[in-house]
Amino acid sequence: MADYDFDVLIIGSGPGGYVAAIRAAQLGLKTACAESRETLGGTCLNVGCIPSKALLHASELFDEAAHGTLAKWGVKTSGIEVDLDAMHGSRKEAVKGLTQGIEFLFKKNKVEWLKGRASFESADTVKVGDRTVRAKNIVIATGSSVTPLPGVTVDRERIVDSTGALELAQVPKKMVVIGGGVIGLELGSVWRRLGAEVTVVEFLDQILPGFDGDVRKEANKIFKKQGFEFKLSTKVTKAERKGDIVTLTVEPAAGGAAEMIEADVVLVSIGRRPNTEDLALDKAGVQTNQRGQIETDHDFRTKVPGVWAIGDVIPGPMLAHKAEDEGIAVAENIAGLTGIVNHDVIPSVVYTMPEIAGVGLTEEQAKEHGEVKIGKFPMLANSRAKTNRETDGFVKVIADAKTDRVLGVWIIASVGGTMIAQAAQAMEFGATSEDIAYTCHAHPTHSEALKEAAMAVTGKPIHI
Ligand code: FAD
Ligand code: NAI
Repeated sequence: MADYDFDVLIIGSGPGGYVAAIRAAQLGLKTACAESRETLGGTCLNVGCIPSKALLHASELFDEAAHGTLAKWGVKTSGIEVDLDAMHGSRKEAVKGLTQGIEFLFKKNKVEWLKGRASFESADTVKVGDRTVRAKNIVIATGSSVTPLPGVTVDRERIVDSTGALELAQVPKKMVVIGGGVIGLELGSVWRRLGAEVTVVEFLDQILPGFDGDVRKEANKIFKKQGFEFKLSTKVTKAERKGDIVTLTVEPAAGGAAEMIEADVVLVSIGRRPNTEDLALDKAGVQTNQRGQIETDHDFRTKVPGVWAIGDVIPGPMLAHKAEDEGIAVAENIAGLTGIVNHDVIPSVVYTMPEIAGVGLTEEQAKEHGEVKIGKFPMLANSRAKTNRETDGFVKVIADAKTDRVLGVWIIASVGGTMIAQAAQAMEFGATSEDIAYTCHAHPTHSEALKEAAMAVTGKPIHI
């Protein structure tokens, strides 16, 4: 490789970047990964997927103990209290273990970690801290950051983004969440379970954009039952902090009379935007689209030879598993193999209780393509869910009316995030609803609800 320092340099060590680095090294390529954070793993491991799931798990355990769920099972508890320091301790331990795990995997696979912020000098040369390196292939995997909301400045104390909401030192009395998407509902759930009153202000007329319409409506009902308050079709125009209180000015999204809401903590969660600004992309000749994303072809090549991009920085859902699969595929493509990601089958999960999961098309999208058949099955009629008192939710299977091929599966169920893997696999193999209906499912499991929803596509479930 003549005067190149590396065959592959990856910028960013999130789920996209670190997976690409490991796979490239496994394929025999001399690989480095530039990361400016003090620990590897990107948003997901440091301030995203993992710490949020640690707090979701801890708060769920508290909720079960404090609000009578355990007692109903004959598990008596008394003197239940939140020890927030211990919860944060567990969160940090989870993050530390996993980020160090990536460091270990880098050493094991001989991936060199270039510590520092990377920026392009040219299409094959990158400056990382005070070192300049040349690489035959460069993969941009710089991820995304919180989208700011004009008029509502994050102060990391009372007005926080997701990172701040993972680190609150006290349970808020009143929390206002701006944005009824995935972060708002997951982190809103954490603090509601621990005792906060939570109001979600959402610009659109329903929460969870991108999810199936039935799922959005049902999720709204379930969260309301759990004590969430929703202000839909509403926008926040201003936030003013006086001492410990933040006053938000809100208006109907379509315009109208303003109203004030007070909170002691405000979470801004209106989406994320790609990290492309500090890379000096112009020096490499790489352009971004109107949303700041780097566009690639199906193989993750940008328009500049030798420069590739994956993960949150390119179009598509901003999800860790999508970034990981793209990481594997890009490394394989660089090595001359055929790396493919089927972007039509990327599952999406909201890790609330119950979990909300989906893969493929929503009913609304599927109907735009042609006639569909729908099968639905309520968790209330699933023996395991009923026994466990986890009866909220349903499974919905959407199939092509002519071919019976499954086009989408949507699940609200306590273990929906686990159940959706089966649906994704079936769809990857081009399954029909009949294929799922005739697959033997272990009893008693929540997954039987997927089988019955598939049976319902042609009108013959057993248990309803
Ligand atoms: P990132 O993980 O963002 O990593 C990019 C890395 O690049 C960062 O470490 C950054 O420091 C580094 N970097 C950026 N610029 C430079 C530079 N110039 N030089 C050097 N390094 C640089 N997704 C899920 O699938 N499941 C979940 O449960 C989930 N939960 C989430 C919870 C929260 C609170 C948040 C915020 C996100 C969550 N996500 C979840 C989304 C998930 O974190 C992202 O989709 C995923 O991390 C994207 O991976 P990535 O590799 O593209 O980028
Ligand atoms: P999101 O896109 O999921 O939701 C943002 C919400 O804010 C939308 O409902 C939108 O309509 C609303 N909104 C936008 N502007 C608004 C305004 N001015 N006022 C009120 N509401 C407004 O984004 P979120 O929740 O910030 O998450 C960012 C990304 O992180 C998501 O794309 C998601 O993919 C990823 N993520 C994934 C998780 C998972 O897979 N479990 C968990 C957390 C984040």
